[in-house]
Amino acid sequence: MLFTCWSVKGGAGTTVTATALAILLSRTSPAGAVVADLAGDVPSVLGVADPRDPGLSDWVAAGGAVPPDALGRLELDVGGGLRLLPRGTGPLGDARRLAVLGALLRADGRPVVADCGVVQPDSPVAGLVGAGDPSLLVTRGCYLALRRAPLVPCHPTGVVHLQEEGRALAGRDIADVVGAPVVAEVPVEPAVARAVDAGLLPSRLPRGLARALRELCSA
Ligand SMILES: Nc1ncnc2c1ncn2[C@@H]1O[C@H](COP(=O)(O)OP(=O)(O)OP(=O)(O)O)[C@@H](O)[C@H]1O
Ligand SMILES: [Mg+2]
Repeated sequence: MLFTCWSVKGGAGTTVTATALAILLSRTSPAGAVVADLAGDVPSVLGVADPRDPGLSDWVAAGGAVPPDALGRLELDVGGGLRLLPRGTGPLGDARRLAVLGALLRADGRPVVADCGVVQPDSPVAGLVGAGDPSLLVTRGCYLALRRAPLVPCHPTGVVHLQEEGRALAGRDIADVVGAPVVAEVPVEPAVARAVDAGLLPSRLPRGLARALRELCSA
């Protein structure tokens, strides 16, 4: 099962949401879970050093000649049943190979969460995003983000709403604009930012964040 997490505007909370979801899945799935980092911040959110190992950008650059086990050889054990597919340092520009990557991740026997970062109108990552089921748009109730959603070549199956106090747009408004249901309401709360900043998200996953994402894990 492949969960793709993506946004249309930076800083929405996509990496934290994707990483927290992967942590929860690694606890509930007997075979563990995989977090695929297409955007580069997952190691920091996990509180581990940036890997120097080859990553997904190297897999993409190698083209169709890579051996079948090449993807598995990129995986790093980050503890607790969770394995990380690191981003690598090169560009991720080959849309066709990224779509193949999406199909391979979707066929993995374990739950896989891909942090696809910000999707732009001409984004090569669109095919991978579309392979997600669910394909989750992570957004705040932010008008400047929501007006971009129709411009990108991806349609989400669901929305993860980062719920901030004082926003005029609620979950149902976001669902109307995007044309997809809100499948999780994640509270924006200091405990999450503090756990991330301390590098302690896996060991001290804040309760509100876990509660908001738990239902997605059993879907
Ligand atoms: N639920 C939350 N509550 C409080 N703070 C949060 C929450 N989710 C994310 N944050 C904070 O918001 C900031 C942005 O989060 P994150 O890096 O996940 O966003 P992003 O969408 O991945 O950004 P980018 O577009 O740069 O990749 C970080 O400081 C993070 O700690
Ligand atoms: Mg990010």
